[in-house]
Amino acid sequence: MGAICRIDGAFGLPGMARPGLEGPPLYSALVSRIDLRSDTVTRPTEAMRRAIAEAEVGDDWYGDDPTVNSLEERCAAIVGKEAACYVATGTLANEIAMHIFVRSGRLVACEATSHVCGVEVSSAAAMSGVAFARIEAPRGQLTSDMVAEALQPDPYDVEVVDLLSLENTHQVGGGTVMPMDELRAIRKVAGEAGVPVYLDGARIFNAAVASGTPVLDYAAEVDALMFCLSKGLGAPIGSVLCGPAEFIREARRAKILFGGAWRQAGIMAAAGLIALEDGPQRLHEDHVNARLLADGIALVTPGALDPMSVETNMVFVDTRAIGIPPFEMLERLRDAGVLANVVAGRIRLVTHRDVTAGQIEQAIRVWSEVAAEAKGGSG
Ligand SMILES: Cc1ncc(COP(=O)(O)O)c(C=O)c1O
Repeated sequence: MGAICRIDGAFGLPGMARPGLEGPPLYSALVSRIDLRSDTVTRPTEAMRRAIAEAEVGDDWYGDDPTVNSLEERCAAIVGKEAACYVATGTLANEIAMHIFVRSGRLVACEATSHVCGVEVSSAAAMSGVAFARIEAPRGQLTSDMVAEALQPDPYDVEVVDLLSLENTHQVGGGTVMPMDELRAIRKVAGEAGVPVYLDGARIFNAAVASGTPVLDYAAEVDALMFCLSKGLGAPIGSVLCGPAEFIREARRAKILFGGAWRQAGIMAAAGLIALEDGPQRLHEDHVNARLLADGIALVTPGALDPMSVETNMVFVDTRAIGIPPFEMLERLRDAGVLANVVAGRIRLVTHRDVTAGQIEQAIRVWSEVAAEAKGGSG
């Protein structure tokens, strides 16, 4: 209890300029707050804490941590790939994948607001000399026609695309789910162009639950993928890169190269195994809560969002409809006890295991009061 969190870090890198937010960083006890910044904020469950304490471990650098090995085997089986590699973060998994698939100086084609070419753009440039061919798509949803156009060969061989990277669910797109038919069509187009397909499936289990499509089916349409245990599934740490055995052998080499090889990682893998088992079974609750939140916000601030746009556990709200800049709204919400984030100019609220339906109702009340007060104040 009494966990202390440096809240200002939520808006970007510590020390980064945050328009509209002034004054010293705020330190606050999170226990009394409703934390909707991300689905990464969950605390380990009692079962996870027990598993962590009792985990059988070895040295993962040498490949002999039994808990890591069983997590990797389980993950590979779930997604129907030959092998898997457990790493600390989703970013590291993405960076390793791009490092393997893409030659330095060549391109990754991806949706223009996807994580790999947004938050991770400097990582890809610094670690692998990779650049991006950005494809703009409404709500982050690529179509096969868009991909076909982007994969047209450059007659001068200047811009050569080595990889197509997909994101499902698409975060900045609003937690949107890629339709299976479209994915199959995209796969076909990429295959015809001779370009391998990678999936940033940080929240692929959310996509699977929302669409009723097994993760296995999504994974079958890509050459390799990663998913995060540390997001909706609720593990404290960890992501898993999955693919053919030879690709994963290379991934282990790149993991060492990037300083990501770790030792008694079974301590974390033990919690990851529980997340993998229990997490998917309850994700629908997060989706229901997100719709509840969206309905409530739409009711009290009409025009700020379309609740029907909420497909999984993310709610994006446009504060222009209320006449308040997003960072000001964020600050007012925070002062009233609701933590959120600003992503691509909109307020982003994310539901997760550690937020109840009751807290969602409270958050709607806070939203309503804050919006009314801000409107009054700004008039
Ligand atoms: C779509 C997507 N991919 C990758 C990542 C990176 O994951 P991590 O924070 O574990 O590095 C995130 C993180 O939010 C994400 O939303």
